[in-house]
Amino acid sequence: MAERWLITHATLAGAWDVPGAEGAHGLVTGAAVAVEGPRIAWAGPMAALPARFARCAALDAEGRLVTPAPIDCHTHLVHGGHRAREFEMRLEGASYEEIARAGGGILSTVAATRAAGEEALLAGALRRVDALIGEGVAAVEIKSGYGLDVETELVMLRVARAIARLRPVRVVTSFLGAHAVPRGMDGDDYLDRVCLPALEAAHAEGLVDSVDGFCEGIAFSPAQIARLFARARALGLPVRLHAEQLSHLGGARLAAEWGALSADHLECATEEDARAMAGAGTVAVLLPGAFYTLGETRRPPIAAFRAHGVPMAVATDWNPGSSPLGSILLAMNMACTLFRLTPAEALAGVTRHAAKALGLTDCGAIAPGLRADLALWDVEHPAELSYRIGVNPLWRRVFAGERP
Ligand code: NIG
Ligand code: FE
Repeated sequence: MAERWLITHATLAGAWDVPGAEGAHGLVTGAAVAVEGPRIAWAGPMAALPARFARCAALDAEGRLVTPAPIDCHTHLVHGGHRAREFEMRLEGASYEEIARAGGGILSTVAATRAAGEEALLAGALRRVDALIGEGVAAVEIKSGYGLDVETELVMLRVARAIARLRPVRVVTSFLGAHAVPRGMDGDDYLDRVCLPALEAAHAEGLVDSVDGFCEGIAFSPAQIARLFARARALGLPVRLHAEQLSHLGGARLAAEWGALSADHLECATEEDARAMAGAGTVAVLLPGAFYTLGETRRPPIAAFRAHGVPMAVATDWNPGSSPLGSILLAMNMACTLFRLTPAEALAGVTRHAAKALGLTDCGAIAPGLRADLALWDVEHPAELSYRIGVNPLWRRVFAGERP
C-alpha cells in the first residue's frame, strides 16, 4: 500500500478548489494535507480531517505556508557560454536587435553551445536546475534552439531529458529549432533543410513534448511559423510561441489560431490579441526578466488579459542573453513590480497557470487527486513570496509525495 503521511498546522495557499478556501490566494488556515503515494489524498481544515488519516505520521508545519510547488514554464537553461560582453554593450547603448543583427545575440550562444559538448551542457544545466529546485520548483520547461543544426538540437533535448533522470524534477521539452536563422541561410531554406528535419528526428527519438518558435523581425515571419506549426500538428505535437516581444507581427493571433498552449513575452500584444487568446484558451506567459534586462518600456496588456480572462503565467525565461534570471521568486517579484500583477496573480502564474501553459493537468494546485508537489515556506502569507527581493524562504520541498 502506498505510504500515507500528513502535513499539519499549515496555512495553505493555491488551494483554490478546496471547499472554504478564501480569496484570490485560495487560502486555508489551520490546515492539513494528507499525502498518499505521489498524490494529495485530502486537503482542508485540520478540524475536518477524515478519520482514516488521523493516525498517519505527521510533518508539523508549525503555521508555515504550503503552496503548490512552483513550475517554471519557459526556460532556455540548456546552453553553452555566457553573454556578459553583450550586457556591457547594451549598457553602452547598443540594442538587443542591433547586437543580434551584428551576429551576436542568439547566434553567439549557438556557437558556444555547438562547441560545448553534451557533458558540459549537462553540467551547466544541472547547476541551473539545482538553483530552481532550491526554490521549490518541481517542473521546468526546457527549450532547444541554440543548436540550429540537427545534431545539436537533438543533443540539447537529450540533455533536457537527462535532467529529469538525474534530479527530482519534471521536465517538459520544447523544440525551438525556429529560434534564429543561421548566417548565410534564409528562413524558409533553413526550415526546409534543417529545422523541420530536426523536428522529425527529435520527435522520432521521443524528445519533443511541444514545438516553439520565435516570431519576430530578427527571427521568423508568421508565414514561416505557420509552416512549422503545420508540421507540429501533423506529428500530433502541441505548439507555443515567442510572440510580440519586440514588435507586433501577429504572432499572438497566429498562436491562438493554432490552439497554442501559450504565447510568451507579449509586450507588444493588443486587446484584439487578448480576445483571440481567450477564445483559444492560450495562456499568456509573462517574462519580466527579459523586459527588465532589455530595458523595455512597453508592458504586456495586463488589463486586457484580465478583462478577457486570459490565464497569465510567469516564468524566468532563463537564458544567457535577454534574461539571465535564475530565480522563480524574483520573476514573481518582477511580475508584480514591473507588470503590476497582484501577488495572488503571481502565485497562480507560477502554479496553476504555468501548469496549464505546459499542458499539465495533474499539478499546479493543492487539491485531492493532484500530484503532491508542494513547497513549504518560512512565511506567514503568500504575498511575502512576491514581496521580498533576493530572499529564499523555502523550508521544505515535497516532490511526487516523497516525505522530506
Ligand atoms: O525568450 N526571444 C527569444 N528567445 C529568448 C532569447 C534568447 C537569447 O537572447 O539568447 C527569449 O528572450
Ligand atoms: Fe524565451
